[in-house]
Amino acid sequence: MKFYFLFILVFSAYVSAEPKQAAIATAHPLATQAGIDILQQGGNAFDAAAAITASLAVVEPYSSGIGGGGFWLIHRASDHKQVMIDGRERAPMRSTHDMYLDKAGNTIKGLSLNGPLAAGIPGVPAGIEHLVKHYGRLSLKEVLAPAIKQAQAGFAVTARYRKLMAYRIEVIKQYPDTARVFLDEYKIPALGSLIVQADLAQTLTTMAKHGSQGFYQGAVAEAMVASVKANGGIWELDDLDKYQVVERAPIIIDYNGITITSVAPPSSGGIVMGQALHILGQFDLAQYDPVTRKHIIIEAMRRAYRDRAAYLGDPDFVKVPVERLLDEEYTEGLALSIDLDRATPSHDLSDITTTDQTGTDTTHFSVVDTDGNRVAATLSINLPFGSGFIAQGTGVLLNNEMDDFSVKPLTANAYGLVGDHANAIAPGKRPLSSMTPTFLETDDRIGILGTPGGSRIISMVLLGVLDFAKGNPPQSWVSLPRYHHQYLPDEVQYEQGGLSSSEQAVLKSKGHVLKEKNRQYGNMQAIMIWKKRGLIFAASDPRGEGRANVFYLP
Ligand code: GLY
Repeated sequence: MKFYFLFILVFSAYVSAEPKQAAIATAHPLATQAGIDILQQGGNAFDAAAAITASLAVVEPYSSGIGGGGFWLIHRASDHKQVMIDGRERAPMRSTHDMYLDKAGNTIKGLSLNGPLAAGIPGVPAGIEHLVKHYGRLSLKEVLAPAIKQAQAGFAVTARYRKLMAYRIEVIKQYPDTARVFLDEYKIPALGSLIVQADLAQTLTTMAKHGSQGFYQGAVAEAMVASVKANGGIWELDDLDKYQVVERAPIIIDYNGITITSVAPPSSGGIVMGQALHILGQFDLAQYDPVTRKHIIIEAMRRAYRDRAAYLGDPDFVKVPVERLLDEEYTEGLALSIDLDRATPSHDLSDITTTDQTGTDTTHFSVVDTDGNRVAATLSINLPFGSGFIAQGTGVLLNNEMDDFSVKPLTANAYGLVGDHANAIAPGKRPLSSMTPTFLETDDRIGILGTPGGSRIISMVLLGVLDFAKGNPPQSWVSLPRYHHQYLPDEVQYEQGGLSSSEQAVLKSKGHVLKEKNRQYGNMQAIMIWKKRGLIFAASDPRGEGRANVFYLP
């Protein structure tokens, strides 16, 4: 008879090395369980990642979904292959440069955020299939089974669900098919009430039977396109039919002896974080007092996010000067421009102007299996509950990732981020992302991490990397107080408790404008393998409702 030992430690865990360990950290206990079930059935980390992706699409509908996109960074132990699977949404072919502007050239409020016109062509179904077909051991049917069951049985409404629904309820009320699934008589459902998604279960079952073609072609595709068009969207069957994931080489950065593997464009994550780390590499951070260290880190963030606005976009459409942005001399010059006593006004770096808006969701999970295969995946439908629009009869909640384009050059998107022509809308193009699934490696440790959080994703992962560099475990990375600068708006954003009052005073005296966010942000899911000691640690952000498990398998 088969048997196994399962050690479950909520939020943070470690076990001694011996025979065969695996670990999973996700933003929802049911998604972690789906991954564990798949590993127990003999699947590898890639099968588990596919199952977790599908499960999160069901149980965390405010963060990601098969109507959205994402990036899976993978490491295959057998040949050390590292690749980024780019399942980012693409702009429909009928998209135009100015599609969200009025005749006077002004942004039409809400058009790139609400309803099906805000939705890019989803990449998650293709990503799930790609993981299973090219890297997994199990069938698509097996890996989709937990998500299908969860969609049929329903998941319980949590405090997080209610909070994020409160943020989007006015939009969701406009779409009866969405309201029927996610609201209770047009009100936020009570804590613990069940959200059953029969149509979504059916769509996933069709995918289990026909592969991603069951989503991109046939009855599901036809229903989605008809529903999108009937509600003002511009999808065509051909957009769905032509969608493909792309395998891309990750960005590799060296920082103080740590090899950092992260995502390449169309995510800005790897380059922005890499540039910030190259700038920071010019300083011996340990020699500074904590607040001066924070000042230097903030100034590095400011400079790296500035170049994000100026240069980054879909590499299939624009030339992204990756080498120059990470070049030693260039980043040394940026480091030299940092004044230890004074904040550099962002407008001294460039004269772009912007306005601030807020909003955030997305999800991240980390997996390692008993063979050492690993996945860091960050997935999104953009704002909580995406566009708020479920395509009738399919259960597919569509993203509003079109807002990640620079809808109008040099005008802020929902995250307050600005961009220029490199990230302008074009048919078939992928919007620039900030998602930053990342691996870290030294002689004795491996880290797997990432988080949701819109534009602040990159700075959160950066702070996690700096904490890894100090030798701290993942429970510390996920719990760190967070602060952020993204060039524009020219302010240091920090979560409640992110900066102490004395740090605030010193930063203000250096000329920084400080802005406390009215809540904590981020939901990091992280794993660390301590090679020398044969220990695995896993941690789920205390700000969220996730679950991190380290466990043995036969
Ligand atoms: N939608 C958030 C991001 O991709 O950065």
